[in-house]
Amino acid sequence: MAIRLGDTAPDFTAETTEGTINFHEYLGDGWGILFSHPKDFTPVCTTELGAFANRKAEFDQRNVKLIGVSVDSLESHKGWVGDIAETQGTALNYPLIADTDKKVSNLYDMIHPNANDTLTVRSVFIVGPDKKVKLILTYPASTGRNIDEILRVVDSLQLTSNYSVATPVNWKDGDDVIIGSAVSDEDAKVKFPNGWKAPKPYLRYVPQPGK
Ligand code: BEZ
Repeated sequence: MAIRLGDTAPDFTAETTEGTINFHEYLGDGWGILFSHPKDFTPVCTTELGAFANRKAEFDQRNVKLIGVSVDSLESHKGWVGDIAETQGTALNYPLIADTDKKVSNLYDMIHPNANDTLTVRSVFIVGPDKKVKLILTYPASTGRNIDEILRVVDSLQLTSNYSVATPVNWKDGDDVIIGSAVSDEDAKVKFPNGWKAPKPYLRYVPQPGK
């Protein structure tokens, strides 16, 4: 069955470029991103793996652990890693699962047979410290992901898990946010004592809390 937001992220143990890893143990009490790549030694995947490696410090700052998955073998991954370092400027610095038996890919429904019946699509699962799935993105093999967007949604997820706010269209860290619709004006006066801007009663903007 497909995984949905709010579900517990299925746990697994898998062989990776950094040894055998149990997913939930690897995440510990922090956040995690599990992302799939269709195939080793392919151009878009090479740029993506390199970009995640280049930006790893920004995920570390947010207490987010990265783990990639592809259905190719560990031997293949180890060969490809050299190409990633050579062409993208940074060696792989997070584990890449060798999912040759497609255990993880099937567990997370990453193979979409009408797109390709053996390779995974480009899935992104963001998992919270409670091991619940917080966000799912799915891209076709022909479209590389955007690291800025992934960091942006992590910022939104972390902010909205700490405060009773939501983030509006195109929001980025530091922009005004919206008081959650479940918060009454009475409660909002306590939570946001400096007030808010409300072009409509249901659209209440406040500066980003905690900034
Ligand atoms: C790529 O990463 O470029 C790619 C991988 C699988 C199918 C098509 C493209």
